[in-house]
Amino acid sequence: MYRFRPFREEDRPALRQLVIKNKDFPLKWRNKYVVKNYSSGIHVVTCYNKIVGMVHIGTVNEEEAWLESAYIEPVHRGKGVGTAFAGYQIKQAKIKGINILRVATGYQNKRVQHVMVNKLRFSRPILWYRVKVYSGANYLTTHPFIRQVEPSKLGEYWSYIHRNSEYRRTMGTITSPKDNCWWSSIDYEMLENILSQAQSIAYVNQNNIRGLMLIRRSRGLNFSCPVVLQAYYSNSRVFKQMLRLLLAYNKAVYLSVSKDPTRSLNTLLKEGSAKKYSINRWVVMEKHL
Ligand SMILES: CC(C)(COP(=O)(O)OP(=O)(O)OC[C@H]1O[C@@H](n2cnc3c(N)ncnc32)[C@H](O)[C@@H]1OP(=O)(O)O)[C@@H](O)C(=O)NCCC(=O)NCCS
Repeated sequence: MYRFRPFREEDRPALRQLVIKNKDFPLKWRNKYVVKNYSSGIHVVTCYNKIVGMVHIGTVNEEEAWLESAYIEPVHRGKGVGTAFAGYQIKQAKIKGINILRVATGYQNKRVQHVMVNKLRFSRPILWYRVKVYSGANYLTTHPFIRQVEPSKLGEYWSYIHRNSEYRRTMGTITSPKDNCWWSSIDYEMLENILSQAQSIAYVNQNNIRGLMLIRRSRGLNFSCPVVLQAYYSNSRVFKQMLRLLLAYNKAVYLSVSKDPTRSLNTLLKEGSAKKYSINRWVVMEKHL
């Protein structure tokens, strides 16, 4: 009764219906699949030839892909369709030669975490905090140890990242420079690319790197605000100093961090260098195929 297959051009009206009719279909996805008519990489679930679900297999590069916008109509949930569909997605990814498949979801979405981890043997969920911090008073405008990164020292930053516990904690992924929404593995080339933008900052004490914030200004968000794709640091003091500096020069800062930043943010709030902040908790799971 249920079938899984790639999206076909003639599915477009039915897909549109699925997206529009279901009120719990997230707005962001609605925008992508209806307003922007995005269809590459979509696979659908049909029940007696009617589309009742979808997923988008988004490739990051030749080896990595994300399962995004997985959706089954409410009346078809809880019958094993989502699990079987995810099994189909794994097969499709393998056919494409993908080695690493990832899923990101809200921390509260225990259903997806149960399906992926317990039923499909994805890694345990790695927690991420996506934060927006608004600047308060200009608390710190310079600091002797914090400087813009020097692209010529790429090798040093690369080995610092590898030594840092954040690298292991996050499985080597950072938020995507493209839209600050999904994640990708950091490799040498990507690091070189990020550093060449001359936005990132480092905390260097007596020639030792003690902290590094990989930064990009993102098109998808407020263009004038920096996006910290990942923060590596030896202790929270270093983290706070780097953040203070960014807040002194920007109205707001977006951060993706894998360690709970609440305590540090509360300190900044108390002293007045930050005015307010918001935090969203996300989890990422991955499977090596
Ligand atoms: C996530 C989704 C695709 C799963 O599809 P589905 O057909 O319901 O999945 P299945 O029936 O195969 O499995 C659901 C499992 O989750 C379990 N489950 C349901 N609610 C749960 C909850 N709140 N916490 C933990 N597990 C839960 C079910 O018991 C079942 O597990 P079991 O077979 O071991 O009993 C579907 O529920 C959906 O479209 N949800 C809304 C959109 C969404 O959240 N998408 C994912 C975004 S990343």
